[in-house]
Amino acid sequence: MRIPLIAGNWKMYKTVAEAVKYVKELRGLVKDVDGVEVVVAPPFTAVHAAAEAARNSNVGIAAQDLYWEREGAFTGEVSGVMVRDAGAEYVIIGHSERRTLFGETDASVNRRMAAAFAAGLCPIACIGETLDQRERQETFDVLDRQIKLGLDGLGSDQIAQLVVAYEPVWAIGTGRNATPAQAAEAHGYIRKRLRQWFGAEAAELCHVIYGGSVKPDNIADLMSQPDVDGALVGGASLDVRSFLDIVTRGRDAARRRQGGAAGTV
Ligand code: 13P
Repeated sequence: MRIPLIAGNWKMYKTVAEAVKYVKELRGLVKDVDGVEVVVAPPFTAVHAAAEAARNSNVGIAAQDLYWEREGAFTGEVSGVMVRDAGAEYVIIGHSERRTLFGETDASVNRRMAAAFAAGLCPIACIGETLDQRERQETFDVLDRQIKLGLDGLGSDQIAQLVVAYEPVWAIGTGRNATPAQAAEAHGYIRKRLRQWFGAEAAELCHVIYGGSVKPDNIADLMSQPDVDGALVGGASLDVRSFLDIVTRGRDAARRRQGGAAGTV
């Protein structure tokens, strides 16, 4: 059974002081919120301070990227070991902004995935098609390629721990979220492929979360869909109250879907 996971990707927002203030407020707000995993991903500079502020709380911390080498002459890069040491438990890998703006490829995603597991981090692996690809009806081909190449060489036990974020590029930062039916279709497809390539048990345990213009007023419809195990939230996670609304409404929708079973999807 999968406990829903709601993660806030802050992208390049928030200073150390702003991150600490947010996390302190969030930990108080979610201290009695059960049945959902809550994660925020500050920029590298604030990972350690955010992790300290989140210590012994329900809030997990993610880094937004890592480099696959453990250490060395790689100016400007940060390794998995370093972000784990700074207090992160999760790491976002292969976000579409990394792919389109910074040259990330499926092959480099794959190297980062292995490094994340080696460092004891839970990867949040981002996949998703562009608008052009969707209009050319290539969505499933793109997902196949990203899953196959990005997750190549991982074992079923790793897939079981993994979080896959389906983030259609046309929905990111556009205010145009995937419809619940579009999300359900893509998530069902991803799970089917995971089942074929990594086995039923691993596919059943792997979280597949949705990202792209998630807001407090659309999270319930998205999370009422089968195979939507949570959300990766950009802009609407920057305000702590808006993020809290997404966490509780998403959790409640998952519960309703399960017919009231406690917080599993
Ligand atoms: P928005 O929620 O701002 O569309 O961003 C989504 C995203 O990229 C999360 O990683």
